[in-house]
Amino acid sequence: MPIEDIQQYVDKLIEANELKIIKSEVNVKLEIAEILRRYMYSNGPAILFENVKDYDMPVLGNAFGSLQRLKIGLETDNFTEIGERIVNMTKMEIQSGFLNKIKKIPEISKMGDIFPKQEKNGPIHEVFIEEPNLNKIPVLKSWYKDAGKFITFGLVTTKHPETGVRNLGVYRIQIADNKHAIIHWQIHKRSAQHSMLWKSDKKIEVAIILGADPATIFASVAPVPEGLDKYVFAGIVRKKGVKITKCKTIDLDVPANSEIVLEGYVNPEDLREEGPFGDHTGYYTPKDLFPVFTLTGMMKKENPVYLTTVVGKPILEDAYIGKVIERSFLPLIKFLQPEVMDFAMPASGWFQGMAIVSINKTYPGQAKKVMMGLWGMGQLSLTKIIIVVDYDINIHKMDDVIWSITTRMDPSRDITIINNTPTDTLDPASPIVNMGSKLGVDATQKTVEENYNRPIPEQVVVDQSTKDLVDKKWNQY
Ligand SMILES: Cc1cc2nc3c(=O)[nH]c(=O)nc-3n(C[C@H](O)[C@H](O)[C@H](O)COP(=O)(O)O)c2cc1C
Repeated sequence: MPIEDIQQYVDKLIEANELKIIKSEVNVKLEIAEILRRYMYSNGPAILFENVKDYDMPVLGNAFGSLQRLKIGLETDNFTEIGERIVNMTKMEIQSGFLNKIKKIPEISKMGDIFPKQEKNGPIHEVFIEEPNLNKIPVLKSWYKDAGKFITFGLVTTKHPETGVRNLGVYRIQIADNKHAIIHWQIHKRSAQHSMLWKSDKKIEVAIILGADPATIFASVAPVPEGLDKYVFAGIVRKKGVKITKCKTIDLDVPANSEIVLEGYVNPEDLREEGPFGDHTGYYTPKDLFPVFTLTGMMKKENPVYLTTVVGKPILEDAYIGKVIERSFLPLIKFLQPEVMDFAMPASGWFQGMAIVSINKTYPGQAKKVMMGLWGMGQLSLTKIIIVVDYDINIHKMDDVIWSITTRMDPSRDITIINNTPTDTLDPASPIVNMGSKLGVDATQKTVEENYNRPIPEQVVVDQSTKDLVDKKWNQY
């Protein structure tokens, strides 16, 4: 049975010795965040703070801060398999012909299991607060110069105004007062796009989900293309449809097993200054204008747990979630670009900073074709640097990657710079916010057609007889 909510997940973490409970009193202002960072920087466990000063709700942090915890949460040892499931579904979708459909019926009927299940009621309906107050939730202030308290792990849900396709995105939210907050949805992200398409009375319904089952949380961080409903995606991840239910004051679906749901609306024309915020680049992101969320109602469980996370200079919790995204999206990248053998986004490059890809090169110029393809794929359009290497290079070993760059790349021939492209909103180096340049590094072995007019150098490898001799005598040495 898939994990249904964050409290079941906590039980699993306790069983696996992956959770520490802190009973001494802690403060949401700076103290909890520093404890969480110290544990993350030393590969520590998830932490449940039971005694939070001035609040009656426990706070859970670092919950997904290791691959082991993500294996427990997503109930798989093989993250790549998640992507394989999506590719298989896509292949089934594009198979044409009646015969093919008949052959696929058993698989298609199994797919029915992954669709969300609409429930009339759920644990989230245990308490409804008509006069809610954002300041009753133990929201953290993480860094000394942060503008205030930020919800960092809220799943923001919206609907596409024309298609009705549902989105879930983790966007940080700054508390402005009891009823208002500012949502940092960056312009390239799906819910921001939904808000830009909204033409009616300028009140976009928005719900913020605090705590849900691990697969729904993962789906909210995953860069899933518009058109694929995030609840369906969550169902693919957990191999079973998410139980969803309606909000009370707005027409949006939320997981029936959420801990807390904030209901309200965003007026995209009502912008306020958000930030500064100590971000996952390791720098403060300066203040900028973002839309205001107005709270109209709050649903919660009788005894909810508040899920949070802290960001800062890598490597913190988000790095592990990013690693799972990297592994699970590999099959989709390979499906669209079959020459790709492996793909990595090193966590120290805060993911959008750098991608390294290995390819099986069969024609000249192919590395550039792959770069352009990746820069055209959803959120990869925000990746600043793409390095392409041959498939004999282990892209997860920086020594191998550097060896490839320094032996197979000539700067004036193999470097591509593209100006005036979209960049990650958080990139501290972009000349202006959201715009900057791209760097492509072709570190594959060049051929004559690629203007390499020398014999391809031979790599040094040990000859077989010497290898055999040393193997045989190894224990004598
Ligand atoms: C802890 C954490 C905080 C994040 N904060 C933001 C944020 O403030 N704004 C934003 O646009 N993306 C943020 N992201 C990244 C988005 O969640 C991610 O790009 C996701 O794919 C967006 O989904 P979407 O396709 O629904 O827009 C954050 C991710 C994590 C893990």
